[in-house]
Amino acid sequence: MENIRLNVENALPFLSEAARESYLNSVKALSESLEKGTCAGKDYLGWLHLPSSLPGSLIDDIKQTAAVLRNDCDVVVVAGIGGSYLGARAVIEALNNSFAGLSGELKPALVFAGHNIGEDYLSELKDFLKGKKFGIINISKSGTTTETALAFRILKTLCEEQCGKDFARRNIVAVTDAVKGAARVMADDEGYKSFVIPDNVGGRFSVLTPVGLLPVAVAGYDIESFVKGAADMEKICGHDVPAEENPAAIYAATRNTLYAAGKKIEILVNFNPKLHYVMEWWKQLYGESEGKDNKGIFPAAVDFTTDLHSMGQWIQQGERTIFETVISVERSKHSLIVPSDEENLDGLNYLAGKHVDEVNKMAELGTRIAHVDGGVPNMHISMPEISEYYIGQLLYFFEKACALSGLMLGVNPFNQPGVENYKRNMFALLNKPGYEKEHEAITERLK
Ligand code: PA5
Repeated sequence: MENIRLNVENALPFLSEAARESYLNSVKALSESLEKGTCAGKDYLGWLHLPSSLPGSLIDDIKQTAAVLRNDCDVVVVAGIGGSYLGARAVIEALNNSFAGLSGELKPALVFAGHNIGEDYLSELKDFLKGKKFGIINISKSGTTTETALAFRILKTLCEEQCGKDFARRNIVAVTDAVKGAARVMADDEGYKSFVIPDNVGGRFSVLTPVGLLPVAVAGYDIESFVKGAADMEKICGHDVPAEENPAAIYAATRNTLYAAGKKIEILVNFNPKLHYVMEWWKQLYGESEGKDNKGIFPAAVDFTTDLHSMGQWIQQGERTIFETVISVERSKHSLIVPSDEENLDGLNYLAGKHVDEVNKMAELGTRIAHVDGGVPNMHISMPEISEYYIGQLLYFFEKACALSGLMLGVNPFNQPGVENYKRNMFALLNKPGYEKEHEAITERLK
């Protein structure tokens, strides 16, 4: 079996090898501290050996629950936000046929909610669900997140009105805390099937718990292969693998060296639009894990070649504070050859007979060379193909590297204290009970 591979050769000319060595030298101690649970955020290390330790009984339970939803529902709404949303969406969108959703071929179709507070979005979703048999996977670790709770209230009411209480009870599933939060209380009260998000796994590291696995199974994908990919990567990035051979360590050390040298922005790049939501998931993982204590690389993402026609200019010639990490998929799933055209009015006959992917690969190579020439350090991740197995490898690789990278940076990679600030203001502005003082203070400020 092949593995995803990391190549940092085109980043090395931009950094001090001594500085990178020193980060690599720190990996042994940092890995040990992760392994022994002595690092910052030590209460949230449950993700570290999750792939190799998921009980078969949990996988079976997830598959059985998914089978019920797949059998009963035309549509399943996955409600969640941030870490309770992006992982599942990343895996599903990478594997889905790009147009099957539009042609109505998917049964059940999966749609997402609870990740915004859009009145138009929710109204249009309600219209779409009208007359359809639909189920809901309500995902929230805290069980109190406003965006998700609000969407769930609207969807639960519609499901019960439209499909009946018994159908709703059978096809609403909660993924939440074992004991705390409104989602848990409601699941127990209503008798919904539920899964537990382990206390020691933070939202953005939870894709390999039922948070990610249940929606992926409902979408009809092979969660065992996904977990196997992650478990194999767990070994490849294990604490006993020397730093110079450990891709998570190499990625973490290289990006920290670049950051120390003034490269403050990392752009994650794909040349395959199916990976768009993998980028979104990655942005949250790195943004929430590292952006604190006035530190942290800003994680940005682009879809190429699409965004070469919007962001390409900036990347090529803008402020030289960026580096890029390109994810390259070696083999496409389908085969499509450029046809020859007798008249050749578009001048494209020089491409006739070539695979579309060959054109894409040359665009990728040309772009990487241009960017390196333009002063953008480049790291390259090669992924043999888009499949459950390799997405499992990729996501675990990023998780392990993120933990090491955050620790190298000197922050706690597993908390997100800053996320509370907007919530406090929103609750104060909305006059939530318990926020009376904050309400007064903020209305005074707005006068
Ligand atoms: O990574 C995180 O911790 C956050 O993104 C959360 O997942 C997100 O805020 C949703 O929280 P919850 O699952 O409690 O609804």
